[in-house]
Amino acid sequence: MKVVMATNNANKLREAQEILAPLGIEVISQREAGADVEPEENGSTFSENAMIKAKAVFDIVHCPVFADDSGLCVQALDGRPGVYSARYAPKGEECAKLLAEMQDIPEEQRTASFECCIAYIDENGCGTFGASCVGRIGTEARGTNGFGYDPVFYYGEKSLAEMTAEEKNAISHRGHALRMLYEVYQKRYGEIC
Ligand code: IMP
Repeated sequence: MKVVMATNNANKLREAQEILAPLGIEVISQREAGADVEPEENGSTFSENAMIKAKAVFDIVHCPVFADDSGLCVQALDGRPGVYSARYAPKGEECAKLLAEMQDIPEEQRTASFECCIAYIDENGCGTFGASCVGRIGTEARGTNGFGYDPVFYYGEKSLAEMTAEEKNAISHRGHALRMLYEVYQKRYGEIC
């Protein structure tokens, strides 16, 4: 089965392919599907933004599409950066900015979660659901794998950027959400593999 991911983010696309290919789902990018759009993400929730992206691409390609809207919610910052995670700092500077903003926050108050909301659409309808990964913001950036806030988000003893792709995908917000998407597709289209 082939589905289109409504994203221009190469890291999200790679993770979706890593997770869904072994389950029998080929994920292609919106660009490969001929949808060269970047809709304004002006929703106030992950769910709204995921649907904005999925719908913009579905209106062009008219075949099964899903989108991921995700972000980092830090408890001590009242849930920030949340839906503004992509705009919190220039690319590559988000970890340093977050560590600086949190420098006076003690260890036991550094709980955070990565949230991922998936929106899917096909000719029969649409839906959204979400999943999270709870961890904590460390006091230093560690590791070179992954992307975005991975070097400062710790799950157990490791930052997500110190994990292999397989280790991250097994516990990540996106891993959980995409395995839920697989179940949705199984219900809608029958056995995939
Ligand atoms: P958006 O979903 O396009 O609004 O972007 C979400 C932003 O959240 C990304 O640009 C990253 O900064 C951050 N983010 C989402 N998922 C992850 C992840 O798995 N690791 C690290 N950062 C993430």
